[in-house]
Amino acid sequence: MPVRHLRISGVRNLQPLVIDPHPHVNFIYGDNGSGKTSILEAIAVMASGKSFRTSQLKHVLSHDHDRMEMRVGLSDPDLGECDMESLRLKSGDHLLKLNGSVLTSQAEAAHWLPVQIIEPNTFKLLSGSPEERRAFIDWGVFHVEHTFMDQWKTFRKHLKQRNAVLKQKEAEWLDVWNDGFIESAEAIDAQRRAYLSRFKPEFERILKQLDPEIGVSLAYYPGWEKDSKLADVMQRQQERDMVLGYTQSGPHRAELRIKCDKQPAAEILSRGQQKTVVAALKIAQGALFQQESKRSTIYLVDDLASELDEKHRFALCRLLEELKCQVFITSIDKEKLTDVWKPVASKVFHVEHGNLNEETPNE
Ligand SMILES: Nc1ncnc2c1ncn2[C@@H]1O[C@H](COP(=O)(O)OP(=O)(O)OP(=O)(O)O)[C@@H](O)[C@H]1O
Ligand SMILES: [Mg+2]
Repeated sequence: MPVRHLRISGVRNLQPLVIDPHPHVNFIYGDNGSGKTSILEAIAVMASGKSFRTSQLKHVLSHDHDRMEMRVGLSDPDLGECDMESLRLKSGDHLLKLNGSVLTSQAEAAHWLPVQIIEPNTFKLLSGSPEERRAFIDWGVFHVEHTFMDQWKTFRKHLKQRNAVLKQKEAEWLDVWNDGFIESAEAIDAQRRAYLSRFKPEFERILKQLDPEIGVSLAYYPGWEKDSKLADVMQRQQERDMVLGYTQSGPHRAELRIKCDKQPAAEILSRGQQKTVVAALKIAQGALFQQESKRSTIYLVDDLASELDEKHRFALCRLLEELKCQVFITSIDKEKLTDVWKPVASKVFHVEHGNLNEETPNE
């Protein structure tokens, strides 16, 4: 479901822009500070409600504006041509609409606009907290299992209730909440497990194409002792949970362990190798999503050249081309984008002081 039409205003230094991106490859180049990342950031904010650069969206709003507005025209296999709008005010209020009807959650926007981001800080998926890797697994599950979001909400409710009981030291109420907690926890675990068993071979295939010399293994930890039943673990940990005032084990503690020679990959691999592994994770996720949903991901690749040599840039671009999905890819140098790779179909945009202009092919 490529973005056919894009309007952005009120974002960082960008002048209000209106473009018709190419359904496959969009190269965006320009000097430092010209606004390249801001364009990708605007698309990411619209899709996920979050920026990959800041945890506070107020920083994304242009200093000279009191609102940021984004609008995309999408061509979706289920909905056909559709229009998504996002309005965010300085006050923090925001509104999302699909074909003029208000969307009640950000998850709905994420469903219609599935975006994957590869950017210079992307290696944090390996070195950052387990939460980032849980979010990574859950992106994949959410986009193929339509019951996952509701199951996750049910689990959060049970976890909150159980933690409240633990805090109040109301031991007599624990049994009441345990059953629902365990049932919803196991449902989430089963979906994550099933997803990862399909994901792993895809990841291995992609990583081999990006760099056959990097050996990395993925191991899923459900959030409790691997070979024990959650009900037994809850029983064993009940006293300690009561002392701590929270639930120690469960899918909220799940982890995807990414290892290299039995050591955490983040401790062993170079930055370029880490970026390659993360790119393989993200491309594998998009490829699997495409196979299972017949829809496709939009890739936002910021600063392609950072950390990656020519050979790896080429391999990454070829994989993105094979996916036949839509890509927005930035670089300071036009040559660093087009030297290694000339996709069959693409558009080139130049950004200068927040102004984005499409270049004609012979420029
Ligand atoms: N809230 C804001 N309002 C206005 N301008 C801003 C705001 N936040 C950042 N800027 C400016 O926006 C510009 C664009 O930043 P951006 O990160 O998009 O540039 P870039 O082209 O990706 O640069 P680089 O090549 O260094 O990554 C910067 O000059 C920055 O100072
Ligand atoms: Mg940038």
